[in-house]
Amino acid sequence: MQPEEQKQVAVHQRRRFNELVDVFDTPQPPDVMERLGQIVSAARLRRGEVVLDVGTGVGVLIPLIKFYHPSVILVCDLAEKMLQRVREKYPEVRTYHADITLLTLDAASVDVIFMNAMYGNIADKPHACQNAAQMLRPGGRLVVSHPEGRAFVDQLRVTSDLFIESLPTREEFQDLVRPLGLEVVTYRDEHQLYLMVARKMRNAGNLDFEFQNA
Ligand SMILES: C[S@@+](CC[C@H](N)C(=O)[O-])C[C@H]1O[C@@H](n2cnc3c(N)ncnc32)[C@H](O)[C@@H]1O
Repeated sequence: MQPEEQKQVAVHQRRRFNELVDVFDTPQPPDVMERLGQIVSAARLRRGEVVLDVGTGVGVLIPLIKFYHPSVILVCDLAEKMLQRVREKYPEVRTYHADITLLTLDAASVDVIFMNAMYGNIADKPHACQNAAQMLRPGGRLVVSHPEGRAFVDQLRVTSDLFIESLPTREEFQDLVRPLGLEVVTYRDEHQLYLMVARKMRNAGNLDFEFQNA
């Protein structure tokens, strides 16, 4: 996709997700909450870690993340109305109104990055992953997930006017993230659960120069 087209996708997604804020701001069914719990647990969060929730929406993951006592929770989203709801519910969370592809945080400043139920919406996935890899500390984890699974996402592609792509296979993810210094350590592609965890390798620091010049 050309850069101009990616910008148009972001403009469209921002407008549509702003319109959909009330649709998303409803309680999740218990079985979805149970799978979201599995997703957050897969990050193996330790007390005091720094967490970034990308495409946080109305902040569905935030209470589950708080359970692990992170030092700070950062969230980013394209849609400002989603972030407003997060600020009302969780004033302690730091919000960034940004596309994950363009978000600027310090290099190696984050321990865990979640992309839940939003990876398919990203227009420029290579740059989004590159940016995430740069923000992660060595040993940090990138979690890409969907609590309804691949078939649900593929169904949405047919029925929704949002930009949505199918979720990657394990091999596709490995090929995407290995050059960024990340290794896929968990991959589950099951009925009603998609979960990929990639860990930043300890010796990945020397890739920073490439990220900055990509
Ligand atoms: C389906 S909602 C999911 C929200 C939340 N993660 C959850 O699990 O309920 C997707 C969210 O991702 C946001 N989003 C989509 N593309 C994005 C991007 N490139 N950068 C940041 N946020 C994005 C949308 O604005 C929307 O709020």
